[in-house]
Order: sequence, then C-alpha cells, then structure tokens
Amino acid sequence: MSLDEMREEKEKEKITEKKKKQQKQKQKQKLKNPEEKQNKSEENITVEEKDTKEKTQAQINSKKRKRKDVFAFGNYRSYYGYRIGQGMDEDPRLKVFKREWFQGKDCLDIGCNSGIITIQIAKKFHCHRILGIDIDSDRISDAYWHLRKFVRAERVQKSGAKASIVKVTEKVNDLESCANPSSDEKQEIARDSSHSEEGDLFDIVSFRKENFVQSWCQREEQYDTILCLSVTKWIHLNWGDDGLITLFSKIWRLLRPGGILVLEPQPWRSYENNHLVSETTSKNYQTIIFRPNCFMEILLDKIGFRKVEDITSALSGSKVGFDRPIFAYHK
Ligand SMILES: C[S@@+](CC[C@H](N)C(=O)[O-])C[C@H]1O[C@@H](n2cnc3c(N)ncnc32)[C@H](O)[C@@H]1O
Repeated sequence: MSLDEMREEKEKEKITEKKKKQQKQKQKQKLKNPEEKQNKSEENITVEEKDTKEKTQAQINSKKRKRKDVFAFGNYRSYYGYRIGQGMDEDPRLKVFKREWFQGKDCLDIGCNSGIITIQIAKKFHCHRILGIDIDSDRISDAYWHLRKFVRAERVQKSGAKASIVKVTEKVNDLESCANPSSDEKQEIARDSSHSEEGDLFDIVSFRKENFVQSWCQREEQYDTILCLSVTKWIHLNWGDDGLITLFSKIWRLLRPGGILVLEPQPWRSYENNHLVSETTSKNYQTIIFRPNCFMEILLDKIGFRKVEDITSALSGSKVGFDRPIFAYHK
C-alpha cells in the first residue's frame, strides 16, 4: 500500500469515527437538555453580574492564549523544571537508553529545548559528538548556558580529584616511599591524567538553531543515532502530515546504515491539549490523518526501518503526563 492509499484509508476511518462521535454527542445532549438548564441559570443573574462574568472570562482566555502562543512549537522555557520531578536523580529516560546507542557515536538530538538531556546523554554515555538542534534561538542560548554550567562543574570536580591525588602523593613523599607508588596509586594517577587529556564537553556537545522540517540536509552530515523525543506532536501540529513525513524521511537520510532513531511520540490524546495554540495548529489538527498509532507502520513499511525495539516497559518513574512510549528504530 502506498502512502497515498494509506492516507485514503485512514481518512475513511477518521470520517466513520467522527460520525460515531457526533451521534454519541447528540444522544448525550438530548439526555441533558442543556437549553433548559442554560435558561434557568441565566434567569438568576443580573445584567451587571453577567457583564463582569463575561469580562473576567475574556481576560482569562486572552491570558491563556497569550501564554500558549509563546510556546506554539513546544518550546517551553522551563521544560525540564516540570518534566523532571523533585527528588528524581535524573531524567527517567536516561535509565532506559542503551549505552551502545551512544558510546563513541555521532548523535543528533532534534528539538533539544534547553539542552539538558543532550548534555546528560553526552556525559553519561560518552558520545563521540552530539549536536542538539531547536527551532527556538532562545532555547539554544539556554542550552549553551547549561553547557557552560556543566563544564564548569566538571572542571571543579576534576581539579578537586587532582588536588586530592597531590595530597596523597605529598603524604607518601613525606614517608619517603613515593619512589615506588603502589599499583592502585599508579592506576589512579593514570586515570586522572587520561581524563585531563580527554577534553571536556565543549569538544563533544554543540547546539544549533534550526527548523528541522524546513532546512536543507547537508550531504556530509551523517549520524549513528538520532533522538526525536517529544517533538512529533509539535511538528505534526505545525506542519501537518507532510511535515511528519518530511521529519521521518529526513531522519532516514541522515542516518548511517545500522543507525538508530530513538523516538518518543506523544499520544493522540495529548494533541487535544495543544491544538488551539495557533491558527495553523488548529487547522492542521482537523486534517491530520496519520495519527501516532500508525507511526510504526509508516516507519517500518514506508520509510524502510528494519526493526523496532519497544523499550517503554523498562521506563518507570516518569511524571504524570510524561509517561510516553519510547521506541528504537534500526535502519
Ligand atoms: C516538548 S520539547 C521536547 C524537548 C526534548 N526533546 C525532550 O524531550 O526532553 C519540544 C522541542 O521541540 C522543538 N521543536 C519543535 N518543532 C521543531 C522543529 N521543526 N525543528 C526543531 N525543533 C523543533 C521545540 O522548540 C521544543 O524545544
């Protein structure tokens, strides 16, 4: 079945589903008799009260709209503040990611927001390189700010470790036995000097402002692992089914053979919460045919991924609303 045929089939399913929903709603309305209810409640309030009530409601709506408009791409300012709960030692997703997807690999993180998970992946799994891209330049500035903070903390930690080794050596020197350090001490010194030669996160992590669905793919750019975490909904709502297919095809082109796409799609029910953020998103929401439950079929049968690993069950401790599935697609 081609993508167009699949689109037609899904469209038919959508229409049937819509009809069923409308019928259900009609039945519900009949049972409630809302007209009667509305008239009764309106009889009891004065014109002034009604005026104030309407004004307050309008103010609330406009405030809500303004706040949401700013984040029409999911480009939230303090995303990790509410995604990672208090008392969590790290983002629960880091616990289920596999070392072999990242260690010594060239990685790309699409929609990196303020870069926290990008940096943590680099630090925990020792990537060769990782590039985080985001449509919002403010989030890229935040990401560089976080990177500087991480590097500073890392340097302090390293210099602390070095200082303690110097202290041990001095003590041993005092006892005139340092000419022959023990094998444990030798190992510790060797480990420390290899760390300082290793360079720091600045050599591994970088960030770039880019709209992934509308930028040109450079020929030489190739990756072993691409992350697309909680981004599909935003691309889908802002650029519709075409944007989604562009996203998947471009990821495929950028991956080396054997490469991995780590995908965390938001479920369809969560589109409901954000489809009104802009005119574009509300229009696209109405026309979307390829809902998240058919992403797997598209990626395996149409885009061409060989196999998929579902690692969702290993995930635990996510905050409510962020308990989303995670898949690893192999090219
Ligand atoms: C909800 S956040 C997810 C952040 C991060 N991936 C994570 O899961 O921890 C979605 C991010 O995708 C970015 N984004 C949305 N559309 C994009 C596009 N077309 N190109 C690049 N980034 C995009 C937003 O700016 C936002 O920072």
